[in-house]
Amino acid sequence: MAKPKKRYICQACGSVSHRWQGQCADCAEWNTLVEDAPATVFSLKHDLSSGGRAVEFVDLDKPGEMPIRQKTGLAEFDRALGGGLVPGSAILMGGDPGIGKSTLLLQAAAKVARDGHSVAYVSGEEASGQVRMRAARLGLSDAPVKLAAATGVRDILTTLGQMETPKFLVIDSIQTMHSDTIEGAPGTVSQVRGCAFELIRYAKENGVALVLVGHVTKDGNIAGPRVLEHMVDVVMSFEGERSHQYRILRALKNRFGAVDEIGVFSMEGEGLEEVENPSMLFLSGREQPMAGSAVFPAMEGTRPVLIEIQALIVRLQSGATPRRAVVGWDSGRLAMLLAVLESRCGLSFSSAEVYLNVAGGYRLSDPAADLAVAAALVSALADKPLPDRSVWLGEVSLAGEVRPVAHGNVRMREAAKLGFERGYGPADPKNNTSKLRYEGLAQLANLVDRVMSN
Ligand code: TYD
Ligand code: MG
Repeated sequence: MAKPKKRYICQACGSVSHRWQGQCADCAEWNTLVEDAPATVFSLKHDLSSGGRAVEFVDLDKPGEMPIRQKTGLAEFDRALGGGLVPGSAILMGGDPGIGKSTLLLQAAAKVARDGHSVAYVSGEEASGQVRMRAARLGLSDAPVKLAAATGVRDILTTLGQMETPKFLVIDSIQTMHSDTIEGAPGTVSQVRGCAFELIRYAKENGVALVLVGHVTKDGNIAGPRVLEHMVDVVMSFEGERSHQYRILRALKNRFGAVDEIGVFSMEGEGLEEVENPSMLFLSGREQPMAGSAVFPAMEGTRPVLIEIQALIVRLQSGATPRRAVVGWDSGRLAMLLAVLESRCGLSFSSAEVYLNVAGGYRLSDPAADLAVAAALVSALADKPLPDRSVWLGEVSLAGEVRPVAHGNVRMREAAKLGFERGYGPADPKNNTSKLRYEGLAQLANLVDRVMSN
């Protein structure tokens, strides 16, 4: 019999290759390839067209199959989930270490347990004592959550099989779990995948809402939860800057609902507090307008959020390569905007350092923020503040045109409600129904004229 071929699995993206390489050919991460147990290969001689069991086919309109959601009682968590937990589903909760995943899930677990449902929280990272201490700090000690510190999936599933089936099960984290039927240390792709498979199967068979915590890390020793994304029903990401108090819970994939609603929390001394009205959170709240600061009316699901964008430009005397540093926005998009400002508007950033920051630790990915970023950059370069109480909205094309974006009207109306007086955006009359004094800017060059004449 032929010797089974060795195979190597990238710990970052899960791709398989048949020889070891320093860099993964798929995701270009370095030193992430690890030898894995050889795959069982079926010979084509096996005839798969007979001898199987019958599969039941049903009609698409079969009634009574709609998932009944279980609210956790943490309204922001339920909102991000699209209405609550779905029994028999698996949720992957990703996020940087220390961002507050364990805190959030312990709070949600306590809420569900206080509601009279059976809840189990298994921690593979902390001892039970540590979790109890956290619960005491959060004022949750009296919640009837069943708590265990364990890492063996066989032990966990055996124990769960002997007790009342939990409605809600938290595994914190999947990278610490291991199964004795799989080779490799905890955290390797095969272990993570195998353990997740067993736990998800248990959840589906028993109607349990399962949350797997997964650390996002670039470290090659721990499998990034990317390999799990296709195995679970919902992928959530808990985001924020550790130095800021605000945290955003976002669904990146949701088989049961939309992915556009976010949950907003604030990390306080007694745990995470829900923020019901986040619209003004990401503004610095200063009275005097400052050069380099522009406000962007973002839309998160159905809720508008005003976000301050800050730019700082430092002229360099020497011929050193100028730095471009960005926090909360895509650096490639910044490079593109700088290039458009240079080539279409004749501004020069080439001998200047450019720093861009989105206030409050918010991460922006909406191209509708292009105009606000450009306004902050031009204002910083000219050292002139933008018009007082103004918002900026529009996507910028490579040709330097300002393009209309989704929900322009709603965003402008909401900004007006929150006390803003002027709106700048694409030269599209559709955006002009709010109480704001609206000014259309067809080209980025119009923005430059507008800032210079302020
Ligand atoms: P944690 O939930 O342990 O993060 P994760 O599970 O994502 O790694 O939270 C870590 C941070 O949260 C910790 O550095 C301290 C902070 N924190 C508070 O500010 N207030 C609190 O009440 C708690 C429990 C944690
Ligand atoms: Mg944790």
